Amino acid sequence: MRLASVSDYRELARRRLPKMFFEYIDGGSYAEVTLGRNVADLEAIALRQRVMRDMTEIDMSVEVFGQTLKMPVGLAPVGMAGMYGRRGEVQAARAAAEAGVPFCLSTVGVCSVEEVAASGTAPWFQLYMLKDRGYMRDLLVRAKAAGCPVLVFTVDLPLPGARYRDVRSGFTGATQLSGAINTAWQGATHPGWLWDVWLHGRPHTLGSVAGAIPQGRSVTDFLSWIAKNFDRSVTWADLDFVREVWDGPIVVKGVLDPDDARDAVRAGAQGIVVSNHGGRQLDGVRSSISALPRVVDAVGGDLEVFMDGGVRSGLDVLKALSLGAKACFVGRPWAYALGAGGEQMVSKMLGTLRSELATAMVLTGCNEARNADKLLLDVAL
Ligand SMILES: Cc1cc2nc3c(=O)[nH]c(=O)nc-3n(C[C@H](O)[C@H](O)[C@H](O)COP(=O)(O)O)c2cc1C
Repeated sequence: MRLASVSDYRELARRRLPKMFFEYIDGGSYAEVTLGRNVADLEAIALRQRVMRDMTEIDMSVEVFGQTLKMPVGLAPVGMAGMYGRRGEVQAARAAAEAGVPFCLSTVGVCSVEEVAASGTAPWFQLYMLKDRGYMRDLLVRAKAAGCPVLVFTVDLPLPGARYRDVRSGFTGATQLSGAINTAWQGATHPGWLWDVWLHGRPHTLGSVAGAIPQGRSVTDFLSWIAKNFDRSVTWADLDFVREVWDGPIVVKGVLDPDDARDAVRAGAQGIVVSNHGGRQLDGVRSSISALPRVVDAVGGDLEVFMDGGVRSGLDVLKALSLGAKACFVGRPWAYALGAGGEQMVSKMLGTLRSELATAMVLTGCNEARNADKLLLDVAL
C-alpha cells in the first residue's frame, strides 16, 4: 500500500493491528461528537492564498523552553504504544529525535522512562497523578534522573471517559477468561503483530508504573487497575507538590477554558496544551482548535500555548499556529504510523507533515513558522 496521507497510515494500522488495539487508538468517548469536531473545525478554517512573494527560504523551526524544534510539531503522549509496535515508545522516540521534534512519553507507556531515555534522547514526560503520592514522587525523581527536559501534567483525566468501542471490542470490561480468548483470537488473526509485538515485544507491562501495580496478567489488566487509581482530588495546589521534585518547565495538558488557563498561569505553569484529550474524555465539549483563540487571548503572553486534537496534516499545523499555538501535538497520527510499520513509518509520517507544512507556508506567503498569525487565514472560526 502506498502511503500519502495520515488517513493511509490509519488504514494500514487498521489492517495490521488486532481489532481491540486499533479501536482503542481510533475511538473517542461516548458518541464521538468532540472527536469529530476536532477534525471538522480544523477543516472548516480556510487558509489565505498569497502569490508572487519570494518564498525561496522558509524557516519552520520554533524555540520552546530553550530547545529548538525543527518544526512546530510534537508526538503527544499515547498510552500503551508498545502494544502497537515492538517496544513502540522507543521506536517513536527515535523517529521524533531524527525529525528534531519532541516525543512525550505517557505515564502508561509499555516502555519505562529509563528504557526510552537509554535509547537516545530523553523524552518529555507525561504525568497522570495516581493516588499513591509516594510512588508519584519517586516517578518524578526517576523522570528527572533520566534527563527528561519537560514535564507534561495531564489534568483532564481524573477518571477515564466511557469509550463504547473498547467495550464492544473486548478491550475493557471483559472477564479474564473471555479477555484471554479474545486476545488470543485477535492475535492469531494478525500474524505480523503476533510475531512483532506479542512474541518479540515483551515484557508487556506499563514500564514506568509497573512497580505500583499488583501483578496483572496482561497490559489491559494493568490499565484497568490504573483506571481505578487516578487521583480525583487533584487541584492547582498540587502543582506545588510536583514542583518540590520537578524544577524544570511544567506544561499543563487538557485546558479548554480561558478561566482554567488563567488559573494555570497563577499556579506557575510554564505552558498549557489546549486539548480535550483527542475527544476521549468529556464528549460534547468544543473542539481544541475552536477553544484555542479564546485561551490565547486570555493568557497568550504569559506562558507557552500548545494545542492538540484533530491535527491530521501540515496544513492543520499552520492553521493552529495562525490561531496562536506555539506548536501542536499529534496523537493518533503517530500511533497509526507505529501500528502500520514501526519507527520507519513514524519517520515517514513526520516527513509527510513536514512537507505539507512547507507547502502550506509557501502558498500562504509565510516565511517563518514562529511568526504565523491570523493574517494567514481567510476564514477563521
Ligand atoms: C490511543 C491514545 C492513547 C492516549 N493516551 C494518553 C496518555 O496516556 N496520556 C495523555 O496525556 N494523553 C493521552 N492521549 C491523548 C493524546 O495525548 C492527545 O491529547 C490526543 O491524541 C490528540 O488528539 P489526536 O489524536 O486527534 O491528535 C491518548 C490518545 C490516544 C489516541
